[in-house]
Amino acid sequence: MKALSVVPQQAGSAALLDVDEPPVSDGPIVVETLAVGICGTDIEILSGAYGWSPPGRERLVLGHESLGRVLEAPHDSPVAAGDLVVGIVRRPDPVPCANCAVMEWDFCRNGLYTERGIKAHDGYLSERYRITSDFVVKVDAGLGQLGVLLEPTSVVAKAWEEIERIGSRAHWAPHSVLVTGAGPIGLLAALLGVQRGLDVHVLDRMSDGVKPDLVRALGATYHSGRVGDTGLEPDVIIECTGVSSVILDAMTNVGVGGVMCLTGVSSGGHEINFDEGALNRNMVLENVAVVGSVNANRRHYEAAASALAAANRDWLSRLVTRRVALEDWSDALTRHDDDVKVVIEVQPVVAR
Ligand code: BGC
Repeated sequence: MKALSVVPQQAGSAALLDVDEPPVSDGPIVVETLAVGICGTDIEILSGAYGWSPPGRERLVLGHESLGRVLEAPHDSPVAAGDLVVGIVRRPDPVPCANCAVMEWDFCRNGLYTERGIKAHDGYLSERYRITSDFVVKVDAGLGQLGVLLEPTSVVAKAWEEIERIGSRAHWAPHSVLVTGAGPIGLLAALLGVQRGLDVHVLDRMSDGVKPDLVRALGATYHSGRVGDTGLEPDVIIECTGVSSVILDAMTNVGVGGVMCLTGVSSGGHEINFDEGALNRNMVLENVAVVGSVNANRRHYEAAASALAAANRDWLSRLVTRRVALEDWSDALTRHDDDVKVVIEVQPVVAR
């Protein structure tokens, strides 16, 4: 079968190669891959800045935002042949740490977790893969190819869960949310905010184009420029750019008693002149909480599956701005200005 793989930490090493069928050690459920979404993490892996190959191997199969159709599953598994499914990305560490021991691998404490398509475990960008029942999530068949949005939605479902748990440290009746960054993560975070009945604002650099249109189509308000110039003092900020100047601008504008959640990974090495004393003073006097959030556990995938099932299908399909055939994979990995989510189509999604 064909698989798209890289030599981690080596830029320009991506290649579509013939590989062996997936190993039985990956689980008894055999899945045919239909589509794989591309995100910033894949681009970082391709640039040689991130990613680890499986032990004893040179290459890592890419792909962590998956959608597949079950080909074979044991009788007692939660999925059956024909079901549309998504594979969970992270696997608990083998020790396991206290959090991985209770299936909260997204809070792994010792860093020995693996991640499919990212860290020491082949990803889903092969024609077929195998998986165990604990790590496969069934998606609403009516979503079709849009089920590929489940993994990024699980990341924002976790962010929302963290925000709500922290917010409820005291009386919590949030009204407004600001999302910084109108990429797929930002737009999905905004969708979950709208689903919660909040007054949602999204800020990005562009003043027109597909991103502002998608924000408005959600019933949210779009802003470009600086957070400080919006006049907002949001109860919740979800930061999805990873850009240090945006992060600090947002952090100084969280409303009283508000929660800011950081989801974007910065590259580091950007030092800026900043009044940390004033930031500290505001955060203390206004009980502001800032929290980082990465990855997602099964609970978050399930919350995400419900959120996608309830979302407007036309809006979701506008998030996928480019669909590229597996043979043309290099096009998918080259950024275009108007890209939101780019998806590699491995097989057509036709009902069987
Ligand atoms: C993935 C997460 C993963 C993180 C860090 C993100 O792109 O969506 O599942 O934990 O990268 O590797």
